[in-house]
Amino acid sequence: MTNAPLSLSFNPAGIELDRRQGLSRQLYQALRMRVLDGRLASGTRLPASRDLAAALAISRNSVVRAYDQLYAEGFIEGRVGDGTYVAQLPQAKKLSTKVSTGFSTGLSTTLSTNWLDLPVISSSKVIHSGALGRVEKNHLALPPSGPPRAFRVGVPAFDLFPFEVWAKLNAAFWRKPDLRQLCYGDPAGDERLRELIAAYLRSSRGMQCTAEQIVITSGAQQGISLCAQLLVEPGDGVAIENPGYRAAGHAFAVAGARLHGVAVDGEGIDCNELASYGDCRLAYVTPSHQYPTGVVMSLARRLELLAWAERTQGWIVEDDYDGEYRYTGAPLAPLAALDRQGRVLYVGTFGKVAFPALRLGYLVLPPGLVDAFSQRRAVDVRHSEVSTQAVMAEFMAAGHFQRHIRRMRRAALSRRNTLLADWPRDIPGIGSLPSVVAGLHLTVGVDSRAREQALVESAANVDVEINALSSYWLPDSQTPLDQRAGLVLGFAAVPEADIRAAVKRLKKAWR
Ligand SMILES: Cc1ncc(COP(=O)(O)O)c(C=O)c1O
Repeated sequence: MTNAPLSLSFNPAGIELDRRQGLSRQLYQALRMRVLDGRLASGTRLPASRDLAAALAISRNSVVRAYDQLYAEGFIEGRVGDGTYVAQLPQAKKLSTKVSTGFSTGLSTTLSTNWLDLPVISSSKVIHSGALGRVEKNHLALPPSGPPRAFRVGVPAFDLFPFEVWAKLNAAFWRKPDLRQLCYGDPAGDERLRELIAAYLRSSRGMQCTAEQIVITSGAQQGISLCAQLLVEPGDGVAIENPGYRAAGHAFAVAGARLHGVAVDGEGIDCNELASYGDCRLAYVTPSHQYPTGVVMSLARRLELLAWAERTQGWIVEDDYDGEYRYTGAPLAPLAALDRQGRVLYVGTFGKVAFPALRLGYLVLPPGLVDAFSQRRAVDVRHSEVSTQAVMAEFMAAGHFQRHIRRMRRAALSRRNTLLADWPRDIPGIGSLPSVVAGLHLTVGVDSRAREQALVESAANVDVEINALSSYWLPDSQTPLDQRAGLVLGFAAVPEADIRAAVKRLKKAWR
């Protein structure tokens, strides 16, 4: 809540909208820009939607949609019965809003000079010093394979993927391939696909990115791994969310990082704790939907994190693995859309919209990093295989991708609702269900680690897959074991009937 004087008021003069383009998006961007550059101070009262609509000669719906998005992202707040105000954002003025022109530091000093000197991993042992021992100790758990079942985490409703469309596009590509595409290509990936991804991110995420900033990867994991290889020197501190995505931690540890598990509270990663690690060169975060707790990072925290990166010349790796799945309003603007200093590397994947085995993802990089990342890809694999990229490009260009996202969002929402409606409320030791505003999974607390293990085990005995929340923590965490306990359930992997059947089996097994 803001205590600012009510005399601050907003003058819509100066907002110019192009009537040929989406009006609510333009209004949202104009207001957001004014908050970030300080023209709209904290506490400024915004006009009622009806008045602003009249002043700008646009529909009230457009204003309401723009306000909704700004509200969801924390730029504005409402006081019941008392209007809408610009939120308290102490850091806002520190961020310049001019578009990044690249880097304030040269590549030779910002990139790891060791990037060709990777540690060697044998099947039984990691041969390298220090932090790498952790990989062995923490044992790299592979994601479960086999047909999806309730409640596999990290898997979308890929039973709904339009395989026929994909097969047709694939056949069309191979029937008459453009021979130029069959020679060695650009290590950064297929140019048309990169153009289409950039356009998609500009319209769906408000990112001001171009195709030149995009490097195609083999899924998000390879994007994260490239960041580790290129930005981390052995011995550098790397902050990861704790609990968090352990596979990212492993990628940084393999590059020789000293991992710092940083606590996550109701607003996201704890930036005070992050700042206390003086050796941190990079922070890996999942702001749109923290993995696995589901917390959406607040705007204030996003600004704090960006300020940390600017202050320390640190890097932020933003993993937007499931940003397509928001059940109210549009996807939130990522950190990369707020970054003006070229400190954020954005990781995206097609794995949560299409299917994980597609192994197709991308990085959106600050311009000065693109060459180094492309070269690294060229050294590793030359570039990604051509047909998957070309078929995905056609899939996007022909409108199938957008249609499919909408279908997948509806399906995930319906499967979420089924799980929430059927979930047993009276099982001893299990906390109450959270509200699930985004993503493909939910996390529910359990009162002890022993109880967590028993619940997971008895679920497995009736063919129900549930992850233990405690397995997402770094093993040497300070938080007591019992406080790390919980259940992580993916709700999108199987249709509603299978969800109901699985819950039925769980109810029996747990009583
Ligand atoms: C947080 C997070 N990031 C990245 C990924 C992996 O994505 P990909 O399959 O594209 O490597 C996952 C998969 O579950 C994930 O949960």
